[in-house]
Amino acid sequence: MIPVTALWSADRIEDAAKVLRSGELVAFPTETVYGLGGDATNDLAVARIFEAKGRPRFNPLITHVPDLTAARDLAVFDARAERVAREFWPGPLSLVLPRAPNSPVSLLASAGLDTLAIRMPAHPLALALLRATGRPLAAPSANRSGRLSPTSAGDVMAELGGRIAAVLDGGRSAVGIESTVLDLSGAEPRVLRPGGVATEALEKLLGHVAAAGAPSEAPRSPGMLASHYAPERPLRLEARDARPGEALLAFGLGPAPKGFREVRWLSRSGDLMEAAANLFAALRALDRPEVAGIAVMPIPERGLGVAINDRLRRAAAPRLS
Ligand code: TXA
Ligand code: MG
Repeated sequence: MIPVTALWSADRIEDAAKVLRSGELVAFPTETVYGLGGDATNDLAVARIFEAKGRPRFNPLITHVPDLTAARDLAVFDARAERVAREFWPGPLSLVLPRAPNSPVSLLASAGLDTLAIRMPAHPLALALLRATGRPLAAPSANRSGRLSPTSAGDVMAELGGRIAAVLDGGRSAVGIESTVLDLSGAEPRVLRPGGVATEALEKLLGHVAAAGAPSEAPRSPGMLASHYAPERPLRLEARDARPGEALLAFGLGPAPKGFREVRWLSRSGDLMEAAANLFAALRALDRPEVAGIAVMPIPERGLGVAINDRLRRAAAPRLS
């Protein structure tokens, strides 16, 4: 237990890098959500990540790198992977690739798999921290297991304060939803988790891209388990009218349906990018004891709407505990 978690601004990057090299944890901003960072080459640091999140199992983590050259030391890039990385990095896309023969990444970070998920984030503080640390950083979203992902330093403090050494404050996350996880380790490219890069954009480069397995299949990406990203209040999707005590998460051009105790807009102009950026913060803001439930207006199933609906369906799924 760490009694006090430091809140650091950009001028403390060197301190943060030193803490990370010593095997302690620092949460840092990325363009998607805040990450809970630890040295990906240090088994103890990676174990601390699972401990701090209270993860019931060792799900594989995404390893973050400052550039493509660093990524090639960790995993095997074929021609497809090179092309996709050049097009979308830095950015909200994680690539699942075969582990390089001498990959220094902890086996615990990849949960013993012979593949590795890697990404180069598009956030100046994240990139500066990766360069200053000189190690790849394993970083799941900086929330406790099963809860909403954090999109501000304050969110991280509320989730993990007292459990980690420090939080680097880089303002609100611009994309607001986690990276797309694209599996390029097999013959057919497959999206394991929809996220900040829409499948349509990947298909322009790769041709047909398969979707994550049907729910009946064993999840290939453990982050794809049912209840996940959950607020404490119950969530009701495709809402068109109010039930007693409910708050509304509104979207679209038309007026919001009446009768809700409170209304929060994901986007008034029907902009899916804006809605993704606001999603987790809006859910957090409505997740209060005096709210009986959270109703969500329909969100179109295209572009980033696929990732938004994926997160909402998980948040609405029956709870395991
Ligand atoms: O936007 C993001 O990706 C954020 C920020 C902090 O970068 N990170 C994040 O990490 O969401 P995490 O650990 O919460 O999600 C990792 C996802 C999970 O769905 C996991 O199952 C999948 O990536 N994953 C990781 N390694 C994998 C592998 N080798 N094979 C298949 N799936 C993998
Ligand atoms: Mg997460």
